[in-house]
Amino acid sequence: MQKRIIITGGAGFIGINATDYFIRDGWDVTILDNLSRKGVDFNLKWINEEHPSRISFVKADVRYDQDILNRELAAHDAVLHLAGQVAVTTSVLDPRSDFENNVLGTINVLEAVRNAPTPPILIFASTNKVYGDLEHLGIEEAKARYHLKDYPEGIPETQQLDFHSPYGCSKGAADQYIRDYGRIYNLPTIVFRQSCIYGPNQFGVEDQGWMAWFSVASLFNKPVTVYGTGKQVRDALHVKDLCGLYKSAIENIDMARGEVFNTGGGKTNSTSVLEFFANLKNNHDLPMQYDFSEERRGDQKVFISDNTKAKNRLNWEPKIAFQDGAPMMIDWIKDNTDKIKTFYA
Ligand SMILES: NC(=O)c1ccc[n+]([C@@H]2O[C@H](COP(=O)([O-])OP(=O)(O)OC[C@H]3O[C@@H](n4cnc5c(N)ncnc54)[C@H](O)[C@@H]3O)[C@@H](O)[C@H]2O)c1
Repeated sequence: MQKRIIITGGAGFIGINATDYFIRDGWDVTILDNLSRKGVDFNLKWINEEHPSRISFVKADVRYDQDILNRELAAHDAVLHLAGQVAVTTSVLDPRSDFENNVLGTINVLEAVRNAPTPPILIFASTNKVYGDLEHLGIEEAKARYHLKDYPEGIPETQQLDFHSPYGCSKGAADQYIRDYGRIYNLPTIVFRQSCIYGPNQFGVEDQGWMAWFSVASLFNKPVTVYGTGKQVRDALHVKDLCGLYKSAIENIDMARGEVFNTGGGKTNSTSVLEFFANLKNNHDLPMQYDFSEERRGDQKVFISDNTKAKNRLNWEPKIAFQDGAPMMIDWIKDNTDKIKTFYA
């Protein structure tokens, strides 16, 4: 029988890449999105040109449209729940809206899954921010980056939860609800605590999607502000590898259900902001103009995901090295300068 997946927030960056990935893998895909994110119209146009059939679109809001969620989610084998408020800074300005999008929206999705005659598999995109600023872990400062002294393999899932910022709280609450619905109602739910995801079709802004944002800024000679020293480190995971992990979780649901996985590029695919700027300049002839401002509260100095659990349970590891993936992202930006100019105008 034809496999069907529904992607909430499917018109966004990860969602449109997941749509493309699952269609190429033989699935029918439904995108459910309220189209609130700027740039999603470009994504929808692109995906419909790539795949003129096998996509359905439902305009709906996970905060309010319970009946639509009930009907649509029950008609699919798997749900990828990506819809939500995605920026820390926005969450600080409007915590209620952040809560409604991320917590209420997730409860509505969970209720639709729980009430479905045959509950679909539910995958949730959580975040490494549920671990807080990690300041107590022993951080060393080197010339161009911070290091986590005692975690050479990165941060495992056993790290204590410590929600910072309204975004950290709302994603963390949703993360725990997803886990607990799996436990208490015996539903096939999975949580991925994602690090920094990068790739094509990302319209990064200062608040979110920093690699795309800095790359676009350097291409258009726009000065940017670096918050803190620029030595903050993130592990970067190409969105195609992330989609491979979602697929692996669905195919190995008995190993994945009820579980939480840290999900990132891992120690071999990490970069600091300053190192990323040097990469843009030296390898792509894209020098950055920047100044510094105060560090943002709650910002992690280093986050590197320990992917061991995903490797052991789901036989998954990132395949796209950052040194190959970064040029792919920059090529996409260069090939789409017209769209991007309109977006940033
Ligand atoms: N991109 C990353 O690096 C990253 C890292 C960790 C976690 N995540 C999580 O992954 C998910 C997807 O992130 P993204 O980078 O693709 O973000 P995005 O903003 O590009 O996509 C989110 C999509 O959700 C839609 N949306 C927002 N609120 C909605 C609502 N109430 N109802 C229906 N649709 C709604 C938006 O229109 C957009 O299309 C988010 O939940 C985010 O928290 C992303």
